[in-house]
Amino acid sequence: MTKRYHVTTFGCQMNEHDSERMKGMLESLGYGETAERADADLILFNTCSIREKADERFVAHLHDAKIIKRGKPGTVIGVGGCWAQSMKDLVFEQFPFVDVAFGPGQVPKLAEFLTTDSITAQGYFEFEGFPAHLPTKRDRPHQAWLQISVGCNMKCSYCIVPSTRGRESSRPFEELVAEAERLAADGVVEITLLGQNVNAYGRDLRPQPRKFAELLHAVDAIPGIRRVRYTSPHPQDIKQDVVEAHRDLDSICEHIHLPLQAGSSKILKAMRRTYNRERFLDRVEMIRAGVPDVALSTDIIVGFPGETEEDFQETLEVCEAVQFDSAFTFVFSARRGTEAATFTEGLVSREEKVDRMRRLVEVVQRNAHERAQRFVGRTMEVLIEGPSRTDPSRLRGRTTHNKAVNFQGFGEPGTFTQVEITSATSQTLMGEQSLVDLALLR
Ligand code: SAH
Ligand code: SF4
Ligand code: F3S
Repeated sequence: MTKRYHVTTFGCQMNEHDSERMKGMLESLGYGETAERADADLILFNTCSIREKADERFVAHLHDAKIIKRGKPGTVIGVGGCWAQSMKDLVFEQFPFVDVAFGPGQVPKLAEFLTTDSITAQGYFEFEGFPAHLPTKRDRPHQAWLQISVGCNMKCSYCIVPSTRGRESSRPFEELVAEAERLAADGVVEITLLGQNVNAYGRDLRPQPRKFAELLHAVDAIPGIRRVRYTSPHPQDIKQDVVEAHRDLDSICEHIHLPLQAGSSKILKAMRRTYNRERFLDRVEMIRAGVPDVALSTDIIVGFPGETEEDFQETLEVCEAVQFDSAFTFVFSARRGTEAATFTEGLVSREEKVDRMRRLVEVVQRNAHERAQRFVGRTMEVLIEGPSRTDPSRLRGRTTHNKAVNFQGFGEPGTFTQVEITSATSQTLMGEQSLVDLALLR
């Protein structure tokens, strides 16, 4: 009988993509996917360690797997990803029922483990670049991720990622273009380029260094690729050539995720973000000058050690000045092995963190709501994703601005349609399929 696997994925899009590679690899080994963890012969977790909450959530799941294994002792439990990397061999000490653990750079080693009848628990934690040779199993046939670099060379003092994903290394330009061409041939219409600092892409390539903007041009030129997104750029490195790509190339979406983290230059310095408040605002101005209608989203951390009420006010001020279309907001979480975890001065109390978060979310949501009103009355191109989650009689899709749209209409996932936007909240646009498009359907 075919062996069955079950994967639970935590964390960012990079992990989602790594899981696709894991699944593709397992299926090439003859494994089949099962929807229920309890039915699996191989229970896998692809883990994240970005904040303490991520760890806690995962450990609860791991205990569930332990109980399943108690009832079915042959079950293999595997733990991959950033948490595994940051724990290394401690995984086996603390969770002796785990059979195999591997870091984000070691997905192929999972196959090695499964095919060698290893009796003892194994850990694999080297950094070996991206396993481009592995097949992927995608959930959405029309959307794909393309990992353009691995690792991160920045030293943000709060961040665990450089230690879990290693030094930055760009994948060869030609390899990426070839992969994007294969994806297009496979029916993919939207590609998201992934990297921790995508603007740094290509500088390390030899003999010919490349630029991120060059890659945008090359992927845009591939027939069939209608939308190109990327995440994340670092405010330090976003340059005019990238803004021009947004302005000039049809497929490059009118959305940029530009992580602010904090609005106070003092806190940005302590975070080692390498830009200050003025520089960030200047980047925003440059982007908006080139692409006036661009949607800007961001990440913000509140309660960083040393953040005073005045510093926090500066974060609110930058939000009001920029008017982000959306923002992910996080409470600072001390991560093992990071510089900020050793900071002892000006620690922000739990109550203060919660209160700042509440006030920040208020500003962020009000801005997002106001910004979204500019779409009302416009007819916009929407890539259909499927039925709406809240109302299955309606469809859900996304605009180039990465705005979710719920609308009345018809169409298959992966196709484009025109939707007239009738109202907008901070998160979602509502609309009706344009009559011109309905006529086309007939
Ligand atoms: N490479 C990406 C970020 C990946 S992590 C970038 O630089 O944009 C995603 C977000 O998690 C970060 O932007 C940051 O806002 C948040 N984050 C990272 N470490 C954190 C920590 N220790 N506590 C709270 N939030 C954190
Ligand atoms: Fe972490 Fe900073 Fe690298 Fe982003 S750029 S992954 S926040 S170290
Ligand atoms: Fe991503 Fe979490 Fe690792 S956010 S890079 S999976 S720590």
